[in-house]
Amino acid sequence: MAGILDGKAALVTGGGSGIGRATAIAMAREGARVAVSDLSKDGIEETVALVNAAGGQSIAIQGDVTDEAAVANMVARTVSAFGRIDCAFNNAGVAGRSVGPPGQRIHELTQPTVAKMFSVNLMGVFLCLKYEIAQMLKQGGGGAIVNTASIAGLIGLATSAHYVATKHGVVGLTKSAAVEYAQDGIRVNCVNPGYIKTPMTKETMDERYDEIMAKVPVRRLGVPEEIAEAVVWMCSDKASFMTGASHVVDGGYTAA
Ligand SMILES: NC(=O)c1ccc[n+]([C@@H]2O[C@H](COP(=O)([O-])OP(=O)(O)OC[C@H]3O[C@@H](n4cnc5c(N)ncnc54)[C@H](O)[C@@H]3O)[C@@H](O)[C@H]2O)c1
Repeated sequence: MAGILDGKAALVTGGGSGIGRATAIAMAREGARVAVSDLSKDGIEETVALVNAAGGQSIAIQGDVTDEAAVANMVARTVSAFGRIDCAFNNAGVAGRSVGPPGQRIHELTQPTVAKMFSVNLMGVFLCLKYEIAQMLKQGGGGAIVNTASIAGLIGLATSAHYVATKHGVVGLTKSAAVEYAQDGIRVNCVNPGYIKTPMTKETMDERYDEIMAKVPVRRLGVPEEIAEAVVWMCSDKASFMTGASHVVDGGYTAA
């Protein structure tokens, strides 16, 4: 059966785990060739093995999205393997626990903690957009980019101000990129997941599952595959009139 991404070449960052891995697998199932990038070498090798074992075609590219040369290399290697980039999923990100002590309010956050958060979640997305869009303009024919924001890109959350600021920034970058490149046929959207069961949320869920689930109308965590399906669709030509949008997939969290 024809896939909705047949013939397309995709790049996924943060593809070594969680939402990025599930999306790389789903993109390949729908016919895309997928370049899987992440800081984690083991992570990307595992994702590539899963994609290829299911009959897909993928390559692993280790790289840090905060390093401009590394991002340029991710795009260049994708193009050298597949000839072009039609879709990109800018998804690599960190949560508060990865950059400093959890539970801090604004007056307790340190500049290095906040700078690290901004660097991965915001500058990383900017650098990916810059190099992916340059390639899409060069090759012609448009493209589709999805950035991973969050419900934290739409609402405030206590003790997560730095994370919330980056995800609001991703929503803003997405809207601006959508407006700037609409006439070039490049669509740019973001996905805004609620609480999803991945390594990123494990410790928080171990500590605060009942408290958080009380605020989620469906009363459960999402799974990465439920985000992947939305991303695949946004990358496909089926979403041809969708650009600059924030697509919420949150079990009703922001509706409540
Ligand atoms: N899990 C959730 O509940 C949730 C909710 C909303 C948004 N998100 C966002 O989804 C995205 C994916 O998160 P996840 O839940 O799959 O987490 P995850 O920890 O499973 O995956 C994140 C991946 O990003 C990679 N990464 C981190 N820093 C990087 C860097 N500098 N360069 C390259 N790769 C880097 C990590 O190695 C990891 O493989 C993140 O942007 C996160 O903020 C997650």
